[in-house]
Amino acid sequence: MKIVSSIQELNAARPLLPGPVGLVPTMGFLHAGHISLVERARRECAGVIVSIFVNPAQFGPNEDLAKYPRDLPRDLALLEAAGADLVWTPTPEVMYPPGFQTWITVEGLTAPLEGAQRPGHFRGVTTVVAKLFNAVQPQKAYFGQKDAQQAAVIRRMTKDLNFPIEIVVCPTVREADGLAMSSRNTYLNPEERKAATVLFRALTAAKAAHEQGERDAEALRRILTGTISAEPLARLQYASCADYDTLEELEKVTGKSLLSMAVFVGKTRLIDNFVLE
Ligand code: PAJ
Repeated sequence: MKIVSSIQELNAARPLLPGPVGLVPTMGFLHAGHISLVERARRECAGVIVSIFVNPAQFGPNEDLAKYPRDLPRDLALLEAAGADLVWTPTPEVMYPPGFQTWITVEGLTAPLEGAQRPGHFRGVTTVVAKLFNAVQPQKAYFGQKDAQQAAVIRRMTKDLNFPIEIVVCPTVREADGLAMSSRNTYLNPEERKAATVLFRALTAAKAAHEQGERDAEALRRILTGTISAEPLARLQYASCADYDTLEELEKVTGKSLLSMAVFVGKTRLIDNFVLE
């Protein structure tokens, strides 16, 4: 496994990889969710590139950029074991050199949900992912369903900007008790960690109601809201039942839909979602 940091090193190493090349963009502090994307890429691609970059542009002024967890030696050991061929670890200066002033913005899809709570977040995500796509030129790129809106926004950007890249969205990997794996779970104290299963419990309850025939989206949102409000350590930011493709809030659930939520557990903001088919 080769490790590069500068664009020049990347440009020297990239042509040596056999195609098709799969890219897995990450911010590091890897867990089994990230590794599942690398393993999927390993199965589907002859060359596997993983990027590790804690992207300052997607963090708001009051968010956790400075204390975002990092452990590069551990990440590299996990990636070696998962069979990555090349790891790109650019610095902020490589990604955003002095004078940088070009941004990629996806409009409508970034307005609701995470976009409404985190102004500028998706502009940072789409800009860095477009830069990763241009620098790496992969044939496939792998993202997690855990960040459902991010996956939808990147699919849209890829289409709209004619990137010749297939976007592969992989299932959410969970802990044994249902909590979606996330680097931010490390912020939770033991009591909060127990309370954090409330997201999974809420989504499971709403999905069960849907399976029993509930088609009123507001009723499903109320199940999410009600379950969260019963957990003293949790505070709901939003609960949504939206169209899977447009992310617009629904009145009636007829086709493929997305149940999603953002919840503070203590000071830690967690997101999770289920797809209703
Ligand atoms: P990061 O949070 O490090 O996540 C990297 C990728 O792993 C994303 O596609 C995310 O959806 C996926 N992922 C995270 N937790 C997962 C889980 N429990 N199961 C399955 N997949 C999971 O998302 C980002 O970084 C950044 O926004 C990035 C796309 C790298 C751009 O900076």
